[in-house]
Amino acid sequence: MKKLSLVTLTNCAGIFTGEGFQKKNGRKIKDNDASFVAGPLDVTIDYDRGLILQIAETSKRNKFSTEHELFDASGLWISSAFYDSHTHALFSGTRAREYFQRWAGKTYLEISESGGGIHNTMRTTLEALRDNDLFFLNDFSQRLESMYRSGTCVVEIKSGYSPTPEGELLMLKFLSDFNKSRPANRRPKILSTFLPLHALPKNTSETKFLNEMLELLPTIKKGNFAQFVDAFPEKGFFSLESAIKLFKSAGKYGLKIKVHSDELSDMKSVETFCKMGALSVDHLQKVSKKGISILASSKTVGTVLPATSFFSNIPYVDARNLINAGVQVALATDYNPGTAPELSMGFSMRLAASQLKMSAAEIFCSATFNGAAALGLSKNCGVVKKGYAANLCLWKTQTQNPKEVLEEIIVDGLLPSAVCSPFPTQF
Ligand code: NIG
Ligand code: FE
Repeated sequence: MKKLSLVTLTNCAGIFTGEGFQKKNGRKIKDNDASFVAGPLDVTIDYDRGLILQIAETSKRNKFSTEHELFDASGLWISSAFYDSHTHALFSGTRAREYFQRWAGKTYLEISESGGGIHNTMRTTLEALRDNDLFFLNDFSQRLESMYRSGTCVVEIKSGYSPTPEGELLMLKFLSDFNKSRPANRRPKILSTFLPLHALPKNTSETKFLNEMLELLPTIKKGNFAQFVDAFPEKGFFSLESAIKLFKSAGKYGLKIKVHSDELSDMKSVETFCKMGALSVDHLQKVSKKGISILASSKTVGTVLPATSFFSNIPYVDARNLINAGVQVALATDYNPGTAPELSMGFSMRLAASQLKMSAAEIFCSATFNGAAALGLSKNCGVVKKGYAANLCLWKTQTQNPKEVLEEIIVDGLLPSAVCSPFPTQF
């Protein structure tokens, strides 16, 4: 069959375009900023370029001189898909035991100091990567498929689970290879973050460890193995000074800063890294009042990760305070085997409602447009508009079952092939 480069979603019941989110740059969002437009509407996608070509009333759509694939979107609402801007999804092994240790009263730092936590995942992940373990590859692939099925179109994944530079590079190369060879209509697109300062192995010093990791930067740049750099400056983990040194060096290699900030204690991370032009500061449970006002008047996105608080028994971030101050707030899963073992954005969105007291429009904006902003993508992603990336969710308007509400997800303009209409049409 001839390859078609256009697909039209016909007769959809309505679109949450999110144009209000964009107009307000994702700040102080009100309900009507979700910008719902009632159907019947048609959306034409150029899937060679992965872009939205046209949105028009069904009876008034432009005629294109080429053949279209058609997808019947009757009874469906369209919105942007989700941008999960903070995860640690590449890991091997489970840490289920720690979950119970935490509920029995042990802190994250105590578990880490006794060789558990991140150290635990470092051992198992490095082993799996060195062995080229097929089970590991399959497991990772299935995780990504689950993300995709729950509406995530782009996912940020960090390294950080290796005690050596060799392992960090293996992680980043693995992500890069996987991203290139993934079936684009079955897995989200991956953006990678170099996270060398995650947990300090016992047998080395912070300075030595950092210097060895810095030597990877030219290779990372040459292979385009990462887009971002991250660190975990925190009591018992790394100093603010080490993170500053890392970010200054990584900046010279074009990596943008996304940083675990003021999660367990007020480290003055937000103040420090907003001034360094960070793309996002993440977690924020212990950010100071001064930090919030600096963040609100900066271009840096504040990322909230409520699943971490849910699973780790630590306080939730005060998202209302951030939003009311005018911070551009993104929502992400922090998916990892220890503190946030749940990969669906839907779970974090539910927590954002029940625990962070965010409104539906605020949650939706934080998972779409602001998530894209936290990845440096908001110039052409996160809203449903002509010329923007065709990363879309199609929602059933009539179902009693919340688990079945997501009908389809489109990444880079590609529908899952099984549901593409086999009937080309000349317009
Ligand atoms: O964002 N805080 C540091 N990193 C992760 C946890 C990773 C882990 O425990 O494996 C976080 O919560
Ligand atoms: Fe994290």
